[in-house]
Amino acid sequence: MAKPLLDCLTKQLPSRRPLWLMRQAGRYLPEYQELRAQAGSFLNLCLTPALASEVTLQPLKRFDLDAAILFADILLVPMVMGQRLRFREGEGPLLDPVRTKEQLQALTAQGGRLAPVFETIDRVRTALPPHVAFLGFAGGLWTVACYMIEGQGKHGFAQALQKVAHEPLFLKLLFERLFETTLAYLEAQSEAGVEALQIFESHAGLLDEKGFRTWVIEPTQKLVVALKAKHPNIPIIGFPRGASLANKKAYFIETGVDALGLDQMTNLEEAQRELQPLGVLQGNLDPELLLAGGPALMSEAQNSMKAFGPHHIFNLGHGVLPQTPLAHITAFVEAVHNKGA
Ligand code: CP3
Repeated sequence: MAKPLLDCLTKQLPSRRPLWLMRQAGRYLPEYQELRAQAGSFLNLCLTPALASEVTLQPLKRFDLDAAILFADILLVPMVMGQRLRFREGEGPLLDPVRTKEQLQALTAQGGRLAPVFETIDRVRTALPPHVAFLGFAGGLWTVACYMIEGQGKHGFAQALQKVAHEPLFLKLLFERLFETTLAYLEAQSEAGVEALQIFESHAGLLDEKGFRTWVIEPTQKLVVALKAKHPNIPIIGFPRGASLANKKAYFIETGVDALGLDQMTNLEEAQRELQPLGVLQGNLDPELLLAGGPALMSEAQNSMKAFGPHHIFNLGHGVLPQTPLAHITAFVEAVHNKGA
């Protein structure tokens, strides 16, 4: 049976408009909360294949979605590079910051720590419904570097931006290490059985045009070339969240990604005019609308289906918010599939 998401990514007309949701496996699901409590910690949940595979499949049991996304986190990359990582309840991630060459050199790679992730992929792969595509992912290098340098994500990324302005040589060294680890991680995910990859560049919007070129476009282009050299058929979705329209356009043209994920700040008419001619688009319903539900949600979903046409991957502009009622998602998924194909 054909997979609408993969058909769309490979520029064939899909049998229906593919739809998935960023953060579709997560706190808004009571069954997620249950397994999260059972695991004791978020990291333990990510690194226990029996639990992580079940969490990956949970949203598919409730909603008629076209993709499963591997349950893991972009910060597993710094963890396997040797940076201490923990997730405090309600506080988000905490890492021991890496801000000097000495701290970077002191990191020692922790080889097999990601082995459970590949076992999770193997388990999910064999359990997926036939029309559902399986997505792997990693953070974009800039976004992961932001967390590595800052040590957290709650108070902005002033230290990371300070490196852009004053210590580009340090950033270059950090990016070399990050590049190797991210490439190996995405290759290993592909070999374990994911069918497409998404690169989450969640903090792309912090950079000006020059910074965006150096720290987002150039490393992503290098990553895409290296991935395609080994896995020529794996489609890649790039998600440069918060980038300006001009930066999104340059990213889409120059990085070689197969599809561009749009945040909710992207204007529909501009996206249709400037970005859609360049390739497949994904996005970009405001997660707040899904949270609120009702007629505003349905009319915006209709607007965006009309604007993008059928050759489009429906998604949110960012992750599902934890307070989102399940009934809103059920109604929304049905509306997209009934009226959108
Ligand atoms: O369902 C899915 O999308 C798959 C799993 C997934 C998670 N994180 C699980 C998670 C994916 C693809 C991510 C990506 C991720 N992680 C990003 C990029 C996307 C984005 O949101 O911008 C970023 C920046 C991170 C780093 C991260 N992980 C933060 C800042 C936090 C804490 C704040 C938050 O949003 O929850 C996490 C924790 C995290 N990652 C949770 C989940 C389900 C919540 C953990 C919990 O408390 O149970």
